[in-house]
Amino acid sequence: MKIILLTGASSGIGYQTAEVLAKEGHKVYGAARRIEKIKELKKFGVVPIKLDVTDEKSIEDAVNQIIKQDGKIDVLINNAGYGSYGAVEDVSIEEAKRQFEVNLFGLARLTQMVLPYMRKQNYGRVINISSMGGRLTSFMGAWYHATKYALEGFSDALRMEVKQFGIDVVLIEPGGIKTDWGLIAADNLEHSSKGGAYEETAKKAAAGMRKQYSSNMLSKPMVISKAISKAINRRRPKTRYLIGMGAKPLVFFHTVLPNRWFDFIMKNAS
Ligand SMILES: NC(=O)c1ccc[n+]([C@@H]2O[C@H](COP(=O)([O-])OP(=O)(O)OC[C@H]3O[C@@H](n4cnc5c(N)ncnc54)[C@H](OP(=O)(O)O)[C@@H]3O)[C@@H](O)[C@H]2O)c1
Repeated sequence: MKIILLTGASSGIGYQTAEVLAKEGHKVYGAARRIEKIKELKKFGVVPIKLDVTDEKSIEDAVNQIIKQDGKIDVLINNAGYGSYGAVEDVSIEEAKRQFEVNLFGLARLTQMVLPYMRKQNYGRVINISSMGGRLTSFMGAWYHATKYALEGFSDALRMEVKQFGIDVVLIEPGGIKTDWGLIAADNLEHSSKGGAYEETAKKAAAGMRKQYSSNMLSKPMVISKAISKAINRRRPKTRYLIGMGAKPLVFFHTVLPNRWFDFIMKNAS
């Protein structure tokens, strides 16, 4: 039984994963801003915890609450994130910074807070939810991909640093997963392009995203929850789990095709 802190537990992948891990017998602290959405999971033993990953005090309070209660954190699952889609010309630098605050710096601060407790017990797992979008780029997702590419480098570097303390770092790289993520990204894309040069293209791309994320062609969050479970329960987890709709073939094509061919595929994907 592990003590687990899981961010982004109010929706999608995080919500499903909290349920799966709690049912396996782990003690799961499910964190998010919309704490009311996590209350349903209490029946499985999940402990809701209020957390805004962009707020230093909120991060400190969440970690301190768990340490006070259980004295340790064995597994940190950094899952909270969103897609700030929009043309580079249209997305303000302020919004780009917010995207990095949520998808990278908040995650990094939380990791910094948790590592001393993992070092003390000479054991820990940090599981970072990246994306296939950390290894390839979709249309009009510059800032989102910038955060996920950064997370890939950050995680590879961290893994080398903390190995000596018995801590492992694992990247989960989901493909298309049916959650609110795509609808939020589509809204951001459409909103950012209003009245500008990219409005028409953005509208079309956003409509494609909505169609994709409302259909049943995407993988279910359970696919990712199972990979996360493996990363926790295996004695020696893989460093990367590339999994879910489109992930393996798209990363393969991105590796073997000339860049402009791949651009064409991604631009016309939706
Ligand atoms: N769905 C996909 O196709 C897909 C593919 C590849 C990677 N991913 C990644 O998977 C992760 C989970 O996404 P999802 O698909 O499950 O999307 P989702 O259903 O929209 O869930 C996102 C979660 O992140 C939390 N969050 C957002 N901003 C936050 C903040 N400032 N502080 C704390 N929590 C915050 C949300 O909680 P609150 O709003 O309640 O705080 C929510 O629980 C993300 O990192 C995403 O980039 C998703």
